Amino acid sequence: MRGGLSKTLALVGAAGLLAVSACGNSDDSGGGDSSANKDVTVFTWWADGGEKAGLDGMVSVFGTECKDYKFVNSAVAGGAGANAKQVLANDLQAGKPPSTFQAHAGAELKDYINAGQVDDVSQLYKDYGLDKAFPQNLIDNLTVDGKIYSIPANIHRANVVWTNPTVLKKANIDATKAPANVDAWIADLTKLKAAGVAAPLGLSKGFAQEMLVETTLLAELGPDKFKGLWDGKTDWAGADVTAALNKYKTLLSFSNADREAIDWSDSLGYVNAGKAGYTLMGDWVAAQQLANKVPETAYTYWPAPGTGDSFQFLADSFTLPTNGADPDGAKCWLKTVGSAEGQKAFNTKKGSIPARSDADPADYPKYQQSAMADWKKDTIVPSCAHGAACTAGQNNDILSALSQFSGSQDVAKLQTALGTAMKTS
Ligand code: GAL
Repeated sequence: MRGGLSKTLALVGAAGLLAVSACGNSDDSGGGDSSANKDVTVFTWWADGGEKAGLDGMVSVFGTECKDYKFVNSAVAGGAGANAKQVLANDLQAGKPPSTFQAHAGAELKDYINAGQVDDVSQLYKDYGLDKAFPQNLIDNLTVDGKIYSIPANIHRANVVWTNPTVLKKANIDATKAPANVDAWIADLTKLKAAGVAAPLGLSKGFAQEMLVETTLLAELGPDKFKGLWDGKTDWAGADVTAALNKYKTLLSFSNADREAIDWSDSLGYVNAGKAGYTLMGDWVAAQQLANKVPETAYTYWPAPGTGDSFQFLADSFTLPTNGADPDGAKCWLKTVGSAEGQKAFNTKKGSIPARSDADPADYPKYQQSAMADWKKDTIVPSCAHGAACTAGQNNDILSALSQFSGSQDVAKLQTALGTAMKTS
C-alpha cells in the first residue's frame, strides 16, 4: 500500500433533482446508545445497496466509539452524487451545512476549500495519529498551503469491466480474460450482438458514460498522455483523441437504448439478468454484488481493455464544514473514518481498499485482495468523473457534452466541448 500511495502524490495534489431520496432526519440512525442525544448529520450519496452497506459498517464503529452522539443519515440517492452534489451546494450556500459531508480527494475538494466551505483538520491528524497511519506522501498531497481539509476513507478503482460469463459463452468468449485492447473488445461485442445479445454493453447515464470515455482515452493514449489531458499537457484537439472518441462512439452503439434513463445499478442489473455481457463501472460493483448476494461464480472482472497496467483511482473523504453544527460530533465521525476499525468495517463492504497503510489483505474479500495487489504495482492515474482530476465545474461541462453526444453522435463537436470544458470551467 505504501508504495502505491506514494504514486498518487503527483495526482491527488493535483440538475434537475429528479427522484431525490433524501433520508435526512429519518429514523435510519445508529451510533450512540439511548442516552445519545446530539445529532451528527452525515451527508453522502450512499443511500442503498452495497454503498449503504459500507456506510452502515462505518456507522456501527461510530456507534461504539462515539456514544455521546447519534448518527443521522442525510444520504441523497444517485450514483456519483448526481443529485447529492447539487443539494449539498444549495445547503452550503444557504449556510446550512451538515455536520460532515463526503467529498472526493483531489480537484473536487479544492472547490470546497476555495469557497471557504471546509475547515482545516490538520490538528485532528495529530490528535488521532493519522499523520502516522497514512503515508506521508498522501498527506502531502492532501495538504493545501500547509493545511489538510479532509480525512480519506478509501481508495476506489474506476477502470473495471464486470461480465456475465453465461452471456459471453453465447459467442464462445472466455470471460476470464480481458480483451487485449479496445479493438479486441469491439470485436467481442460484435460477436455477441451477432449471437443475439441486442445490447451487449450495459450502460447508464451521466458519469457512467464519462467513465467509458475516460477508459477509452486511457487505453488509446496510454497513462502519461491520459494524465496530461487533465493537467493541460496533452492537447484535446489531437488526432489520437479523435481516434479514441470514434472508438467510444462505436462502443456506445453496443449499449442499451435507455442509457440516458437509468443509473449504474440498473446497467449492472442488465448484466446480472443476462441481458448484457459487460458493464464498465468502478469497484463499488463488488459491494453491490455482495449486498445482492450475487455469487462470485456468476461474474468476472478485469481492467478495462487496454488499461491493464493502470489503476484509475478516486478516494472518498470526509470534511469538517465551516460553521457546521456540533463540530465535536463531526470530529468523532472523522476519527472513526480515519481509524483502522472504521476503515475495515467500511471497506470490506464497500468494494474499496483502505487508505491507511496498516490493513491486512486477509481481512478483505477476494476482489479487494486483488485490488490491493494491483494498487501496489500499477501506474496510478486519476479519475475526472469522481473528482480526482477535475473540478465540479469541469465535470459538469463534460457531463453535458456527453449527454448531447449520446443523441447527436457528433465526434468533432464532442472533442471541442471536452477541450473547452478543461480550459474554461
Ligand atoms: C463515486 C464514489 C463512490 C461510489 C460511486 C457510485 O463518486 O466515490 O464511493 O459511491 O460514486 O455512486
